[in-house]
Amino acid sequence: MTRRQEGSLPVGKPVTASGFGTLIRGFDLGAADDEALAALRRRWLASGGLLILRGAESVCPRDFLRFCEAFGALEKNEKYDPDYLLPGYPEILRLGNLRRGGRYRSLFVRADRGARIQWHTDDSFRCPQPAGSIFLCRVHPEEGGGTWYAGMAHAAAALPRELRRRTAGRHAVHSYSFLDTELRKTNPHRRPLSREVRRRHPPVVRPLLSHHPETGREVLCIPDCHIAAVSGLSPDATRELLRDLVAYATQPQFSVNWAWQPGDVAVWDNRSAMHAGSPFDETEARLLYRVTFAGPDSLLQDPPTRFQSWRQRLSCGGSGGASGTRSLAHGRRRVRSLGRGSLPDRGGSGRRPTPSDRRGPAPHPPHPRRRA
Ligand SMILES: [Fe+2]
Repeated sequence: MTRRQEGSLPVGKPVTASGFGTLIRGFDLGAADDEALAALRRRWLASGGLLILRGAESVCPRDFLRFCEAFGALEKNEKYDPDYLLPGYPEILRLGNLRRGGRYRSLFVRADRGARIQWHTDDSFRCPQPAGSIFLCRVHPEEGGGTWYAGMAHAAAALPRELRRRTAGRHAVHSYSFLDTELRKTNPHRRPLSREVRRRHPPVVRPLLSHHPETGREVLCIPDCHIAAVSGLSPDATRELLRDLVAYATQPQFSVNWAWQPGDVAVWDNRSAMHAGSPFDETEARLLYRVTFAGPDSLLQDPPTRFQSWRQRLSCGGSGGASGTRSLAHGRRRVRSLGRGSLPDRGGSGRRPTPSDRRGPAPHPPHPRRRA
């Protein structure tokens, strides 16, 4: 199945049975004009937030960044160790196991080798959250190290009635400290977050179901390794609900494990797609460039009165401005309190029920690793 060609864009091919994600070959990043890049961004949104391009082995950092700018304003990676950034290009974070002088020169996050996959969206504990992220694969092992992607708009559109009943109206606390604790269990080399980083990134509250700020599609927001608590639920019930939601939303029809080749580029939308790493043989080199970009946050769709109500009920004071007004101000102490199940069970996401509410859960066949 292929999409109809839009303007001068090469024809794309869906990478999942649900239609989430599009693979495009033959797109020249360095030569693309503004019109082609705008068409590519529209294709990205229409795909549910995953675009994969193949064949960019020779693109230079400058052309790569120009390509990235077509998707949003680029971030400068201030929260990362400067050693992890590509010299001269602070927008480019190196990801992988690059080491020099006994130290990592790239952000290395070891994927869990157990059954658990750390599904997440990048920095959901920030508001505005980065709208999307872009990988450019530079060096990669033959086997392993694939990146899982799952479409949260496609999953929300088919959400079974029982799961919707358990999810609608609930909010989650997204916490950088919670994520850090989780990651340090399997990444002992990871330095603990500094007080300053914790202060700059207090937890935020997001609905489990909301609407994408650009497409208007309903989306699930369930990055369980970022979520410290869900409104109205005990810690055990929080983990149980998230486990059920993630198991449903990452079924094969909604997800793909992308097997990287050098020169592959993936653009994903943090507002409508989750992702997760896979383990690889760490004696082999793996290096990807990652760029994150800004854009409207789905939280901005929530009526301000609803958030005002949350602020009063949680006694949380924002620091002002578009982002600060949605942040909880009390950091770790507040999350520990919320983690004991004290988060109130109200709010709602303004969801619009769809006919797909009536569909039952889909079967979960074995999931092959995707090779283009
Ligand atoms: Fe990530």
